[in-house]
Amino acid sequence: MQITPTTLDSLVSLTKRRGFVFQTSSIYGGLANSYDYGPLGVELLRNIKNLWWQTFIHQREDMVGLDSQILLHPKTWVASGHTTAFNDPLVEDLVTQKRYRADHLIEEWQEKNNQTSETKPEEMNVAGMGSYIEKHKIPSPDGNPVSPPKVFNLLFETSIGAVSGEKSVVYLRGETAQGIFTNFTNIKNSTRIQLPFGVGQIGKSFRNEVTTGQFVFRTLEFEQAEIEYFFDPETEDWQKLFEDWKQAMWTFVTKTLGISEENLRWRRHTDTERSHYSKDTYDLDYKFPFGWKELWGVAYRTNYDLTQHQTHSGESLEAADAENTRRFIPHVIEPAVGINRLFMMVLAEHYWEDSEKSRTVLRLPAQLAPYTVAVFPLARNKPELIAAAKAIYKQLVMEVPTTWDDRSNIGKRYLYQDEAGTPYCVTVDYQTLEDNTVTIRNRDTTEQIRIASDQILKYLKKNS
Ligand code: GAP
Repeated sequence: MQITPTTLDSLVSLTKRRGFVFQTSSIYGGLANSYDYGPLGVELLRNIKNLWWQTFIHQREDMVGLDSQILLHPKTWVASGHTTAFNDPLVEDLVTQKRYRADHLIEEWQEKNNQTSETKPEEMNVAGMGSYIEKHKIPSPDGNPVSPPKVFNLLFETSIGAVSGEKSVVYLRGETAQGIFTNFTNIKNSTRIQLPFGVGQIGKSFRNEVTTGQFVFRTLEFEQAEIEYFFDPETEDWQKLFEDWKQAMWTFVTKTLGISEENLRWRRHTDTERSHYSKDTYDLDYKFPFGWKELWGVAYRTNYDLTQHQTHSGESLEAADAENTRRFIPHVIEPAVGINRLFMMVLAEHYWEDSEKSRTVLRLPAQLAPYTVAVFPLARNKPELIAAAKAIYKQLVMEVPTTWDDRSNIGKRYLYQDEAGTPYCVTVDYQTLEDNTVTIRNRDTTEQIRIASDQILKYLKKNS
């Protein structure tokens, strides 16, 4: 299911109405590029993270996990090259002084003016973008002339120390990856794992982004799920490992998250676009409501990072081969994804306006849905019905994510659960009091069947 740009507004409004996503600090007018995740959103995010962790950490013998700090020693970011090379090219609107990404301005102008066959911004350097903007007189989104592009660093700076003048500068991490590199020796020495092996981590990263209007796609603060897969370049073929990781990413997105293949594509980074540390990078792009955009990147970072940290720290970050005859700095393949982008993709993909039945449905796979089942008493003023429904609810909630609703009428409860993405609704009615059966309604077909109440769990497990 693919939604169009015109229905993006409807999706955003559903996420607010049903408590998936709220604008951060909305009572103060909001904070640009910042969102909070409400009661349903936090469950969906958690389900995505758990599935990622199960798939890539728990179910692989060659992977372990890590949870490193957001604030690292500031030398980390000097060694990694982020203090100098982690930049975006920005132009300034000469009237409003608002800043925009030069590459985004060119991309949008090319699409609007049917110039998509021209050189793409990812193939231009900063000077090239400046000349292109000048040549085509590309204005800001407000229609004003813009300055030539300049590079701005994306790292957020803060400081440690309470006393003014004695503070030292630190950075909010711009990627979770660096905590993995700086812990390489700790992990190698404290576990029984041997090369090739990977370390995965999920955590917050921060970037001083200026682009607005892309909902949770691009935010200042976001969650990354990153893997550094370490290997010996003399015994492993990096291209084979790279292909294996591409396949693992593809399988996770299509099979586990239920995304259709026609909404996915691979795109190789151009030489000018590739990050300073990478020898080869591919993006797995998703067809978001505002076009094809990067979902998940995979890069061959070589031994760039470990070498840099070894040089800057003076500590050896080498490993030995299996026979302990050769020492070397391992190379890495890095699959890196934003959990919030997976979240947005999942919502866009499974959002469905059912015109026949005048309802909106989030057709989430059961393993992603915030709740697997909702339990209702047919009427709220009948204590016997409430008691029977509560007993079923209490039993189910210990086994699967279950919610309770006894407000308003059954029709409204169904519509609410359709928008919440709940695959099944169980209703306890007068017949339940006689023969212990309930109705169970399927979210996607709206069909209802009657089953014995002690069979609900079996039914849910079989059909989810
Ligand atoms: N360690 C490599 C790295 O950080 P990246 O391509 O800059 O590479 C990896 O980021 C992933 O993090 C992206 O593919 C995207 O899913 C997510 N991401 C990056 N910037 C983001 C932002 N401002 N908001 C939300 N997600 C973001």
